[in-house]
Amino acid sequence: MTDKTLLIINSEQTENRCLELAEALGYEPSLREVKDPVECIIDEGSEHDAIMVCPGALVASPTAKVLVINGPNLNLLGTREPEIYGKETLDDIASRCIGKASEAGMDVTFRQSNHEGEIVDWIQQAIGNMDVIVINAAAYTHTSVAIHDALRAFDGCKVELHISNPHRRELFRHISYVSTAVDAVVAGFGTQGYDLVIDLLVESIDAS
Ligand code: DQA
Repeated sequence: MTDKTLLIINSEQTENRCLELAEALGYEPSLREVKDPVECIIDEGSEHDAIMVCPGALVASPTAKVLVINGPNLNLLGTREPEIYGKETLDDIASRCIGKASEAGMDVTFRQSNHEGEIVDWIQQAIGNMDVIVINAAAYTHTSVAIHDALRAFDGCKVELHISNPHRRELFRHISYVSTAVDAVVAGFGTQGYDLVIDLLVESIDAS
């Protein structure tokens, strides 16, 4: 028996796959079907190690272009608070994800910035040019209305990603301006969360 728990919100048709994933990754799953997923994260997110919201919304085509945006201080991954964020660098994660996605024909671009405006520019440039945005907005998650607004203007698939589960941490991390602008949320799986998002996108191609 594992002592790690995973809150899975609105898994609908993907429920069996989510249960399989939870078992493979060593999490005890709790499933919720709710009207308001963000309210459910706020109510229950702090009780679980990891969170997955609307995994069925992670959908890509075989030629999908995926932009993975990383916010401030994620350039320090590997040395920054390794007890929270692990020991892998962003380059380690990027090369692994780009490798596995390219095998499936998917084009993945990784970017990192410490500047809010630059992230807003990248989201705007993605409109009409990219199919999927995966965003770990890092600290801007909890402050940036500008990133929220830019994400709302992008009408492809949007995924919020966090290495830790912010809802298990300090109160100031419980507010996410990103969650209300995206289709899916994946948090608390460590740096493996990036792989999980790419795997789910690739699986959605295989299933179509
Ligand atoms: C983070 C969580 C944020 O609260 C924090 O500011 C980060 C990283 C994560 O990936 O767990 O920088 O987004």
